[in-house]
Amino acid sequence: MSTSESDNEADLPEAKDRRHFLEKATCAVAGVGIVAAAWPFVSSMNPASNVLSKSTVEIDIGSIKTGEVKTVEWQSKPVFIFHRTPTQISAMQDSTGSEIDPQADDDRVLKPEWLVVIGLCTHLGCVPSKKQEGWFCPCHGSRYDNSGRILRSPAPKNLHLLPYQFLSADKLLLGKA
Ligand code: FES
Repeated sequence: MSTSESDNEADLPEAKDRRHFLEKATCAVAGVGIVAAAWPFVSSMNPASNVLSKSTVEIDIGSIKTGEVKTVEWQSKPVFIFHRTPTQISAMQDSTGSEIDPQADDDRVLKPEWLVVIGLCTHLGCVPSKKQEGWFCPCHGSRYDNSGRILRSPAPKNLHLLPYQFLSADKLLLGKA
């Protein structure tokens, strides 16, 4: 067969249909391949079901005596729930903490008797220990007051707040404001 005969055959309608079919089929297979390859990445961006189920946690606070702290877990982090005494409340309301990260106590609590904060030092994430005057981080010596405000560095920030609400006088819901 000569070259001109072969060129002519490529221009025939059946040959064009066949070419279009092959192009479409190739695109479809490539599309399926891309979706299949991307799926693990897209899927990994969705929160795991155990994370979703723990996005809110209900806590019974009726058993926490005045002056006591209860540490609970929320989204794999410790949360301090501190039932403050009247003396501690008035001392915290009289100050805005230190110059490192000044903040009014009122802006850190929903009810003055309850302080609810993430229990991780804002320096490198150690868990501070409760002391009479607030918290002390054993890793590098940062100190926080009874409002969770930073008093002594190296921590650069107050203990972080989290969304929460009171469901009743004895029940707290962490994770939702
Ligand atoms: S981690 Fe707390 S002071 Fe460094």
